[in-house]
Amino acid sequence: MEVFLLSLAITLCLIPQLALAGITRHYHFDIKVQNVMRLCHTKSIVTVNRQFPGPRIVAREGDQLLIKVVNHVQNNMSIHWAIIINCSAKDTFKPKVKPGRTYLVRLINAALEEQLFFSIANHTLTVVEADAVYVKPFETRTILIAPGQTTNVLLKTRSHFPNATFLMTGRPYVTGLGTFDSSTVAGILEYEHPSKNLQSTASIKKLPLFKPVLSALNDTSFATNFANKFRSLARPNGTMFSASVNNISFAMPATALLLSHFSGKPQGIYKSPLSQFNYTGTPPNNIMVSNGTKLMVLPFNTSVELILQDTSIIGAESHPLHPHGFNFFVVGQGSGNFNPNEDPVNFNLVDPVERNTVGVPSGGWVAIRFLADNPGVWFMHCHLEIHTSWGLKMAWVVLDGKLPNQKLLPPPADLPKC
Ligand SMILES: *[C@@H]1O[C@H](CO)[C@@H](O)[C@H](O)[C@H]1NC(C)=O
Ligand SMILES: *[C@@H]1O[C@H](CO)[C@@H](O)[C@H](O)[C@H]1NC(C)=O
Ligand SMILES: *[C@@H]1O[C@H](CO)[C@@H](O)[C@H](O)[C@H]1NC(C)=O
Ligand SMILES: *[C@@H]1O[C@H](CO)[C@@H](O)[C@H](O)[C@H]1NC(C)=O
Ligand SMILES: *[C@@H]1O[C@H](CO)[C@@H](O)[C@H](O)[C@H]1NC(C)=O
Ligand SMILES: *[C@@H]1O[C@H](CO)[C@@H](O)[C@H](O)[C@H]1NC(C)=O
Ligand SMILES: *[C@@H]1O[C@H](CO)[C@@H](O)[C@H](O)[C@H]1NC(C)=O
Ligand SMILES: *[C@@H]1O[C@H](CO)[C@@H](O)[C@H](O)[C@H]1NC(C)=O
Ligand SMILES: *[C@@H]1O[C@H](CO)[C@@H](O)[C@H](O)[C@H]1NC(C)=O
Ligand SMILES: *[C@@H]1O[C@H](CO)[C@@H](O)[C@H](O)[C@H]1NC(C)=O
Repeated sequence: MEVFLLSLAITLCLIPQLALAGITRHYHFDIKVQNVMRLCHTKSIVTVNRQFPGPRIVAREGDQLLIKVVNHVQNNMSIHWAIIINCSAKDTFKPKVKPGRTYLVRLINAALEEQLFFSIANHTLTVVEADAVYVKPFETRTILIAPGQTTNVLLKTRSHFPNATFLMTGRPYVTGLGTFDSSTVAGILEYEHPSKNLQSTASIKKLPLFKPVLSALNDTSFATNFANKFRSLARPNGTMFSASVNNISFAMPATALLLSHFSGKPQGIYKSPLSQFNYTGTPPNNIMVSNGTKLMVLPFNTSVELILQDTSIIGAESHPLHPHGFNFFVVGQGSGNFNPNEDPVNFNLVDPVERNTVGVPSGGWVAIRFLADNPGVWFMHCHLEIHTSWGLKMAWVVLDGKLPNQKLLPPPADLPKC
């Protein structure tokens, strides 16, 4: 009989002992087969000192480990000691979700040695990002993620309380030779019960628990298909990803807007602002936008009420909008489409908050008011940097007033000519 101890991954931060380098630590391991319940099935597994995963080996750099291993199992055996993942039953990860929501789930494979499949029972995931770069969104039931990789996925919850709980499981994808830890790690996705008094742990435990179907440990055809689904935002047909205000993606001008305004050379002006559609309903089939340098002109000291309406084109999302040049008052907000007949009745004209950046609610609208008493050209843009770069911005031209102190100052005499 022969037993190998192949490798040790040791978590040094867990050790409270004094820093005495170079001591010898003794361990005794009895390898036995034992029956355990895992994910509702009885399985025979190999245990070390009746434990699975095996006992923790604690050591400091420079220590010597003397481990006496006795194999009580019929077969020859090699042991691979991997990093310890803290996932005992009592700290099982159980995120609580609400029905009818979209959650952004950030997945990080922090394991050292294993690529992992991950799936949530009865739910589809939409991959939108990989390693901090946006990708063309795609849907999948299972994710495959390698050590060091990160990915953001959108999880759309059921529209109604499903009267069930759902396992989220992960297990390795293995192509190499040798032994490995093939255990399945699990968390549980729980829905908040619509009636709060049925929220108790006991009643949640009574709900049926669904299990996801994970790919086989060696499912290379899944791995290949999955890898092929990742595509950058580049558009091969010359189109590109963009964001817009009133269906116009802002094109940066060659000459500074303020300069061309001062010298009286007009820039593009919004003409017909927007064709109407159900902004937060099923998006139009044609999601093309045009680009242009479009501005809105305001006579001096105009009282402006501005409705910022999110749309569901590509996906509803909260946008923090920020105009330069002005603070504004947030007089109202709501979900769905702004209703010009009903919503203004509820505006807060008593003590509205004054700010310079406001989050337009995801799938909703916000109403702001400001006094255009600051002559000049002022950008207004989404404060998510990437959205600004995609064109989610426009500008206001605030014209001069009559009095000298209501006029745009001329460019400084030393303004560089090129
Ligand atoms: C177990 O290992 C020993 C020593 O390497 C070898 O002689 C024996 O044939 C192996 N037994 C089996 C069942 O593989
Ligand atoms: C996991 O971590 C928690 C908190 O860090 C700790 O209380 C618990 O004992 C750990 N469980 C195991 C199995 O190490
Ligand atoms: C979950 O999926 C299984 C298998 O497709 C199905 O039988 C079951 O009804 C689903 N349960 C819920 C609550 O969606
Ligand atoms: C929800 O499931 C539990 C347990 O399966 C069952 O007792 C209960 O009647 C179900 N409730 C509804 C509204 O379906
Ligand atoms: C995957 O493993 C199964 C047994 O677990 C085996 O039958 C199958 O041939 C393997 N597939 C590949 C592609 O290696
Ligand atoms: C360009 O390609 C994208 C995706 O690659 C597609 O959605 C879009 O319809 C195409 N546009 C045109 C004008 O062909
Ligand atoms: C605007 O669109 C035209 C074609 O429609 C394109 O050539 C140009 O590069 C775009 N400009 C910007 C700044 O996106
Ligand atoms: C817009 O779409 C939403 C979601 O589909 C729907 O609830 C709403 O009634 C629609 N509004 C209008 C005015 O059609
Ligand atoms: C936005 O502009 C594009 C290009 O001009 C047009 O095809 C599309 O129908 C417009 N969409 C909306 C919602 O107005
Ligand atoms: C601007 O308008 C407000 C209200 O409409 C008024 O109270 C204020 O005096 C005006 N300011 C100037 C500088 O005209």
